Amino acid sequence: MQKEVLIADSLSVSFNHQTVLDEVSFSVAKGEVFALLGGNGAGKSTTLKTFLGTVSPHSGIAKVMGLNVTSEIDKIRAKVAYLPESVTLYGHLTGVENIQYFLALAQVNCTDADIEQALKRVALQQNAWHKKMSFYSKGMRQKTAIALALLRNAPVLFLDEPTSGLDPNAIDEFNQLIANLATEGTTVFMVTHDVYGACHIAHRIGLLDQGKIVGMFERGGQTNIDTEAVHAAFSARNRP
Ligand SMILES: Nc1ncnc2c1ncn2[C@@H]1O[C@H](COP(=O)(O)OP(=O)(O)OP(=O)(O)O)[C@@H](O)[C@H]1O
Ligand SMILES: [Mg+2]
Repeated sequence: MQKEVLIADSLSVSFNHQTVLDEVSFSVAKGEVFALLGGNGAGKSTTLKTFLGTVSPHSGIAKVMGLNVTSEIDKIRAKVAYLPESVTLYGHLTGVENIQYFLALAQVNCTDADIEQALKRVALQQNAWHKKMSFYSKGMRQKTAIALALLRNAPVLFLDEPTSGLDPNAIDEFNQLIANLATEGTTVFMVTHDVYGACHIAHRIGLLDQGKIVGMFERGGQTNIDTEAVHAAFSARNRP
């Protein structure tokens, strides 16, 4: 079995003849939490979107579970869950109805008990389950979206700035959930500009600057990645 779940191999992306990703290479193993860290406009979301097939590589290769993004994107989409920076679910439906709707679209069968279990797991307060989502806070919308991802049993999770706008308690709960999922074998690829959050949650951090990987930091056993070292490298690249 292939150990590397995500592979970017000399990946380059251009928009209007402007190079946005420049020969980016990295891989992410099964059960690993990988954070791509960089300043605004570094190319983080573009990298993520290349794996989802919404941005096409100009050259190089991107693979998800051995499948090539340029030729097998439908198979890839069935295996991944994506949490965009702003979660878009339907405000006029309740949390549970949104989940039922999107699971039906994805042709996933789930019982009410499965949905309840997932909502408990993401710690969405029970009195909100049957309220319309237009009343949900950002954290509540995000928990609902994560519950949906769990119910789809996606082996790969893509997260774009997942903790921006969440309060400290919601961030702690989110980090714990991601750590648990990774322990169970889910592969997590997240993009962020939050140095502290990335060091707290990631097994490895790739530092992206102007479309190039300029640093790679790795956790040592149970010891988190050194925030000071990453912060220094990040600020050296992102001084005004
Ligand atoms: N569809 C597009 N067409 C043209 N240029 C684009 C497009 N998408 C992104 N870009 C450009 O590519 C560069 C990288 O954008 P990207 O969204 O990947 O950055 P990012 O690292 O996610 O930044 P942020 O932290 O602000 O989300 C930017 O200069 C952006 O203007
Ligand atoms: Mg972005």
